[in-house]
Amino acid sequence: MLELGRLDDLPLDYRDALCAQNLVPLWPSLRAVLPPGKPMPRTRPTHWSYEALRPLLMQAGELTPIAKAERRVLVLANPGHGLEKMQASAAIYLGMQLLLPGEVAPAHRHTPNAVRLIVEGEGAYSTVDGEKCEMRRGDLILTPTGLWHEHGHEGDAPVVWLDVLDLPLVYYMEASYVEEGELQSVAGDGGARAYARGGVVPSPLFERRDARYPMLHYPWAEVRVALETLAEAEPGLDAVQVAYINPENGGDCENILGFFALMLRPGETLALPARSPAAVFHLIEGAATAEIDGQTLTLAEADTCCAPGFARVTLSNGSATEPAFLFIADESPLHKKLGVYEVRP
Ligand SMILES: [Fe+2]
Repeated sequence: MLELGRLDDLPLDYRDALCAQNLVPLWPSLRAVLPPGKPMPRTRPTHWSYEALRPLLMQAGELTPIAKAERRVLVLANPGHGLEKMQASAAIYLGMQLLLPGEVAPAHRHTPNAVRLIVEGEGAYSTVDGEKCEMRRGDLILTPTGLWHEHGHEGDAPVVWLDVLDLPLVYYMEASYVEEGELQSVAGDGGARAYARGGVVPSPLFERRDARYPMLHYPWAEVRVALETLAEAEPGLDAVQVAYINPENGGDCENILGFFALMLRPGETLALPARSPAAVFHLIEGAATAEIDGQTLTLAEADTCCAPGFARVTLSNGSATEPAFLFIADESPLHKKLGVYEVRP
């Protein structure tokens, strides 16, 4: 590919004259913004150990009362983007949030979409759009764009969850903002029971629901059974994987990020296709390794890692006798909507 002229090749007075008119020559930056063949991601393969971050998160609980934090979160930041950017990838934000017994994280709503994957503890809940979603290890709870949500804790031990948001993208679009609200009154359980069985949906007097977010709570107990049943029913499957969807229309459960659960069968090694979106892997149960572009990351339970788009990712179950279960978040709904989604062999 032809080497292009550099900024230094241009006379200083010419560059100053461009600056004075708010003008920039394209050719010195052309190869950076349009690299040949594939993107040059800032996102780096990165591993966040739960064992290492947990004491620091608990320390935040002592150092900063909830009233001074509103959301007591340590952000899992990708060094490739610079830690201050608080990004795991171009579109994904990750945070580990701590709620202590008796604390309340007050009601708000915002334009970025969020989900939380419960990592530790019992007795806490999120109220989302008036529906009370009880938190248990591995549960997925949605707080989509514009829906009121608050968190409370009626248990007696710390509760920790992993927040996954499309904040970097929405912020980049200059569309990110929050509103504060009043404590919500509660009715319903986030659809956890109404949509607990696949293949049937509520249809009172022949009418289907057309709510954009009919299901807000996906209990891990149900998802785990779905994976185990799938593994048994179809032993020849390439991968034992399920997607978190809107059960009324089969579409992605949120607009920008996609969410999946994967079971690695005992001893299984699984090479993922190279795809354009970045992805995040969080180990719910078991022991696994993630080899990302030649780097081997060893995941213990509750560990999280991320892979840039087009990365070569191979996941292996470290146990020959027990399954391993992973939660996956990626940017695929965004890439598909924008028409830039690619899978390469
Ligand atoms: Fe929020």
